[in-house]
Amino acid sequence: MSKDGAVVTATSAPTTLGGRIRAHFRRFWWVHLIVIVVVTLCISLPVVYVGYPRIAQSDINKSTLEVKSMSITEPTPDSFQLDQEQVIGSSSIFHPTIFAFDAQVKLAGTETPFATVQVPQIQANDGVEVHINQHVDLSSADAFGAFATAVMVNEEVNLNVYGEPQLKQGPLKTITVNYNKTATMKGLNKLSGFKLLEMKLTKEKPDGTNSEGEVLIPNPSVMTITMGNLTLDLAVDGTNIGQSFLNDLVLKPGDNKIAMTANVNQSALVPMLSKYEDKKYIVPCDITGNSSIYNGKHLPYFEKALAANVLKVDLNILDILGSS
Ligand SMILES: *[C@@H]1O[C@H](CO)[C@@H](O)[C@H](O)[C@H]1NC(C)=O
Ligand SMILES: *[C@@H]1O[C@H](CO)[C@@H](O)[C@H](O)[C@H]1NC(C)=O
Ligand SMILES: *[C@@H]1O[C@H](CO)[C@@H](O)[C@H](O)[C@H]1NC(C)=O
Ligand SMILES: *[C@@H]1O[C@H](CO)[C@@H](O)[C@H](O)[C@H]1NC(C)=O
Ligand SMILES: *[C@@H]1O[C@H](CO)[C@@H](O)[C@H](O)[C@H]1NC(C)=O
Repeated sequence: MSKDGAVVTATSAPTTLGGRIRAHFRRFWWVHLIVIVVVTLCISLPVVYVGYPRIAQSDINKSTLEVKSMSITEPTPDSFQLDQEQVIGSSSIFHPTIFAFDAQVKLAGTETPFATVQVPQIQANDGVEVHINQHVDLSSADAFGAFATAVMVNEEVNLNVYGEPQLKQGPLKTITVNYNKTATMKGLNKLSGFKLLEMKLTKEKPDGTNSEGEVLIPNPSVMTITMGNLTLDLAVDGTNIGQSFLNDLVLKPGDNKIAMTANVNQSALVPMLSKYEDKKYIVPCDITGNSSIYNGKHLPYFEKALAANVLKVDLNILDILGSS
């Protein structure tokens, strides 16, 4: 045992310096506690109040946004119903409440937002799901056309979401932060993999169509898009050979097998018989979007997107000319 320890256990009256200090602390511990608390508060309050908004903003900056699903229904020329699920990723130790806010949505890298969506209140935990289900009025139908076109022709498309939500962490005051996130989503990638699965001649119908078949439209995105009634122009070597129709098209994620009808100009095909004889009458057919109509109204933003993408299929003209 040390000399010090021996002294403490042996004497009750403090005679050494160490003993006197210990006695002082036993008596005045509360004074020291108050001093420590005051000093701690003096240092930490400014850190919390000045640092907290910075930390909160930095955590918002570091968070991620992933769109899990996006569904567009009931399209009109200037609105649609949006049902969107997204997940926010955060590695922060703080889990503030982010109050409901309006967010402007646009194609990243462009100026004009196409819509404002209402983001509901969330607790900012890692992996929190944010569900938006609302009627969206397009603030710019042109900007949405640019977005729809980007979705159509690109493998990936960047959706920018901007807002200035209020945020509150525990007992700390409510502050405003900037939420500026870009979510990368898969696009339709030019509908690559589009195939004509079948096409055959039918008796001419009252609507003027004379053939029908089925197309395969792959959709690698997480988007469900209600496109209405599509009219597509068919051409071979620059010669118009008719139109094809996809009615009530709803493009869902994954492979879509869609029934189609067509109005093929057989007289335009006849001269191709001799030209494509040695190719077994398989002709390269270009398909270009002509119109997208929902409940009698043109949807210019989808028409623009469709027109931006020429599809190519191999068409067996013997199947369509049949025995006629
Ligand atoms: C958050 O990001 C913005 C822009 O990206 C930047 O100007 C700002 O300094 C960042 N804030 C913090 C606290 O990291
Ligand atoms: C959001 O961030 C992007 C890129 O970091 C920047 O170009 C854009 O100006 C920001 N938007 C706003 C509204 O601050
Ligand atoms: C069908 O094709 C023929 C030959 O190319 C053309 O003369 C005729 O005008 C076309 N008919 C229609 C309705 O487009
Ligand atoms: C769309 O189809 C109509 C006939 O239904 C035709 O007159 C028009 O030229 C086509 N438009 C385009 C851009 O192909
Ligand atoms: C598509 O066209 C058909 C036949 O003309 C019509 O009955 C249907 O209502 C149209 N669908 C939409 C979504 O406009």
